[in-house]
Amino acid sequence: MAAARFLLRRSSFAAARRLLPTHPPLPTAASSAAARLVPAQAHSSQSSPPSAQPKRMKTFSIYRWNPDDPTKPQLQKYEIDLAECGPMVLDALIKIKNEVDPSLTFRRSCREGICGSCAMNIDGDNGLACLTKISSAESPTTITPLPHMFVIKDLVVDMTNFYNQYKSVEPWLKRKDPPPVPGKEIIQSKKDRAKLDGMYECILCACCSTSCPSYWWNPESYLGPAALLHAHRWIQDSRDQYTKERLEAVNDEFKLYRCHTIKNCVHACPKGLNPAKQIESIKKLELQK
Ligand code: SF4
Ligand code: SF4
Ligand code: FES
Repeated sequence: MAAARFLLRRSSFAAARRLLPTHPPLPTAASSAAARLVPAQAHSSQSSPPSAQPKRMKTFSIYRWNPDDPTKPQLQKYEIDLAECGPMVLDALIKIKNEVDPSLTFRRSCREGICGSCAMNIDGDNGLACLTKISSAESPTTITPLPHMFVIKDLVVDMTNFYNQYKSVEPWLKRKDPPPVPGKEIIQSKKDRAKLDGMYECILCACCSTSCPSYWWNPESYLGPAALLHAHRWIQDSRDQYTKERLEAVNDEFKLYRCHTIKNCVHACPKGLNPAKQIESIKKLELQK
């Protein structure tokens, strides 16, 4: 089922061109000067001096597809020594890219579960490569793109639809009245602020939406758990004055009610959030209107 959605579109290649390169930019005079001021630290996935530790070889089976190559996607095997690699799946990917195959393409930025860039499917579960420990099992670790998304290259998927759905819930403060004190922030009580807990922490990694069977079948018409979590975040915000309109906007057979409370999204979220609970809360508010 997941493989069906891995079907690839050449039209996505244009999007690939917009991706940030995975290698560092060429140094400028200013950056070279800055680099001299910072003591160099070895990246945990970079080659280190020969270690006295015994080798711990591990195989990674990684989804590969290149839009410039007419051959079908395939799983390519790479073997690396875990004794010379950091503990996380992202460390292994960076080591493979640096030392074995520079053509391997994936997204990453923060390396600490903040940016959401490194979301992928690791041994069948969606997650962040930087927060997922390399399995100690002897069997190979299989890494594929987020399920049911169009692939741009290797582990990079096209997030356009996902971001458009996020944008569609108008994720910003909307007011009918000017702020009580012109030019100042709009005060919120601690109790009202606490209502946003469990939602504001979302990093838009898409692990939840791409694990949701309802989203797989209706990716364009069902908003999916991530966008609905954000819709609820603004519905609950005491400073926002468009609560009624926001509830009206998502009160739709497809946008909201395709959620059948299967709760894959809860299992998938690397930040420990519960999108299914937020969706349920929106449904309850719709009944109280
Ligand atoms: S609870 Fe709803 S949003 Fe979450 S996986 Fe199930 S159908 Fe999708
Ligand atoms: S709710 Fe969790 S899984 Fe979904 S986008 Fe936000 S952080 Fe990622
Ligand atoms: S690299 Fe930023 S979340 Fe993994």
